[in-house]
Parts: sequence; structure tokens; C-alpha cells
Amino acid sequence: SGVDQLGEFIAEAKVIVPFTGAGISTETGIPDFRSPGGLWTRNRPIPFDEFVASQDARDESWRRRFAMEETFAAAKPGRGHRALASLYRAGKIPAIITQNIDNLHQASGFAAGDVIELHGNTTYARCIGCGTAYDLGWVKTRFEPQQRGPDCSACGEPVKTATISFGQAMPEDEMQRAAELSQHCDLFIAIGSSLVVWPAAGFPVMAKHAGARLVIINNEPTEHDVHADLVIRHDIGQTLGPFVRN
Ligand code: OAD
Ligand code: ZN
Repeated sequence: SGVDQLGEFIAEAKVIVPFTGAGISTETGIPDFRSPGGLWTRNRPIPFDEFVASQDARDESWRRRFAMEETFAAAKPGRGHRALASLYRAGKIPAIITQNIDNLHQASGFAAGDVIELHGNTTYARCIGCGTAYDLGWVKTRFEPQQRGPDCSACGEPVKTATISFGQAMPEDEMQRAAELSQHCDLFIAIGSSLVVWPAAGFPVMAKHAGARLVIINNEPTEHDVHADLVIRHDIGQTLGPFVRN
């Protein structure tokens, strides 16, 4: 079966690089973006230029974030996160590339420096001008009275979740490290991503071209399935559960 083949690939690999999307977190209660019920089926994304230009857009963005507050706060690493953390502890995984913003790889035991967050992190905020970091409590105190997104106390520019929105520049160090990891692994496992958002979606192909075996684990077909050595079109928790070691 797919799981047996995956087990063989994992046993044979010296350097495994996982690449995760929102599908690894759905079993923790956090919705993905493009499945039925996903975030982008309910809300239109707010592009970065709109966030910069419009106080209304910033207010709406913070309303959405605080509406998800309990969902994010309650989420605990799922079987997929725990399986990857087990392989990390076993020395098979040097670092993980993720499009996720939910901090669950860190919560499962990855050192923060070994989680390459291509799309940032929603568990804290940053000023879009000077980059000062703020915790969400600081934002909430200022947001709640008038439902207005706050500005930076250092420079006056808007404060935003520390995530990457459409139209916002990708983080350079993370892009560089993700490229190096993709080119220096022998097994690359894409997990729970529709693989439609670029440049992130380029890394599985980059790894394959550099000689790695490519495995794709996702409920739905992806455009990259044709490049994969193994496609497991099945639930992530069930597929990776057997690899959890405590
Ligand atoms: P998507 O919502 O596009 O894709 C998630 C995929 O995971 C879908 O194909 C689901 O079928 C699959 N899936 C969900 N739960 C699963 C489960 N339990 N088992 C197996 N498969 C499952 O999410 P991403 O690919 O992560 O970026 O989205 C990429 C980017 O688009 C996000 O990082 C975000 C979004 O816009 C930005 O906002 C910049
Ligand atoms: Zn600032």
C-alpha cells in the first residue's frame, strides 16, 4: 500500500524535507483554504495593497483574526505534526518548510529555527513599516474599543499579523533556506497542500529536479502529482499516524 511504500522511502532516506500546507492542520480544528468550508470559500482574501491603503480593510482583517482566536488557541498538534516531529527527533529531518501560519510545528517539538515559515505566523503581529513585533494581546487591547486595527507605537504605520498576504514580498531568508533544503534532501514529502500558490509550490518540483524522491500526501489531486514517485490520496492523520513515536 501507499503507507508501506512511504515507510520504505523513509527508511531508505538520509535527509527528509517535509513541506506542509493547511491540510495537515484540519484535524486540529483549523480550516484549510480551498476545501469545501475552507477560509477562501467563506471570505475573499485581503490583498496586501488593500491592507496598506484602507483602514476598513485593516479592521476587517483583525476582525477575522480575532474571530479565529479560540480555534488557533485550542489547536494541538495532530498526528501529522507528531509524526514529523518524531522523524525530526530521530535525526531524519533537518528542518521543515511550511506554508502554515499556525505555529503547530513548533508546538510539536521543532526548534523555531528549524521551521521555515514561507507565509509567516499568525500567533503574533508586526508593524508593516519598521517591523516591530507585537503580541496579540497588545493588538486586542487597542482593537476592541472601536474595532479598529492599531498603528505602531514606534513609527505610526499599521500593525498586521506576522503573515504574508497576497501581493506582499516573500521573506528572503526563508526562500533561500527552503531552496537549499529542497536541493539537498533525498526525500521530499509534500503534505496537505493544493500546491497552487506560488512561489511556495515550486519547492516540490525543485527537489524532484535536484534528484530527491517526491511523495505527495493529499486528499485531492494536485498539478504536481505527475512529478511524484508516490502519491497518497488519503487522510494525513491516518497516513502519518503509524510514524508517530513518543
Ligand atoms: P489549501 O486549502 O489550498 O489546500 C489544502 C489541501 O489539503 C486541499 O487539497 C485538501 O484536500 C487537503 N486536505 C485537507 N485536509 C486533509 C486531510 N485531513 N488529509 C489529507 N488532505 C487534506 O491550503 P494550502 O495549500 O496550504 O497563503 O494553501 C496555500 C496557501 O494559500 C496558504 O499558505 C495561504 C493560502 O492563500 C497565503 O495566504 C499567502
Ligand atoms: Zn513601526
